[in-house]
Amino acid sequence: LAALPLAGKHVLVTAGPTHEPIDPVRFIANRSSGKQGYAIAAAAFAAGARVTLVSGPVSLLPPPGVTLVAVETAREMLEAVRHALPADIAVFAAAVADWRVADAGAQKIKKDEGGTPHFMLVENPDILATIARDEAQRPTLVVGFAAETEQVVEHARAKLARKGCDLIVANDVSPQPGGASVMGGDRNRVHLISMNGVETWPDMDKQAVAAALVARLGQLERAKLHI
Ligand code: C5P
Repeated sequence: LAALPLAGKHVLVTAGPTHEPIDPVRFIANRSSGKQGYAIAAAAFAAGARVTLVSGPVSLLPPPGVTLVAVETAREMLEAVRHALPADIAVFAAAVADWRVADAGAQKIKKDEGGTPHFMLVENPDILATIARDEAQRPTLVVGFAAETEQVVEHARAKLARKGCDLIVANDVSPQPGGASVMGGDRNRVHLISMNGVETWPDMDKQAVAAALVARLGQLERAKLHI
């Protein structure tokens, strides 16, 4: 029996949105379903890896065999990712909120007090860039996602350089003519952007994208280790 391609490897995956509190009952979020990240975690486990899935709030069941770490905010996600390291391969598929409310209230903001509230936003940590540039903890292979609505490949190329990762999986999340959307939907059409160029994959369901991506990550990790 041939060894599974990711046997003995630790794969870290982030998935889902983050929720950034406004007050104890309200939050800022986004439309990420977590489906693609969960599918990648499942595919990595099927390929023989030990898998840690750091997930924001989603309505999916954790894939069997995978260690789930449930978080809400971007800052919690960064802490959980750091705690899960070291990893051989890290796939940052989460749709992390770019901003959070500077001082989220401890009490519910009441409608009848002081008119319409104004919120000051502050930037969240960039988890992918932080880990990709961390010399002590950087996994061998660091993979980012890029959800774009226009100039998908151009923006992803810039992101590859800016974030310091090895590979960007770019997808077009603009609303599609038939009404189907990548965000929340079951299918995905991705471009793989690396130093070596761009590869465009056909439209596939998210499980098929995950399986093909995991197979590719195994090859790329071996190539980077020169084995
Ligand atoms: O810059 P942008 O948010 O488009 O980058 C997307 C990529 O960066 C994804 O891989 C996402 O998981 C990661 N990211 C992150 N932390 C952030 C923002 C994005 O890890 N605060």
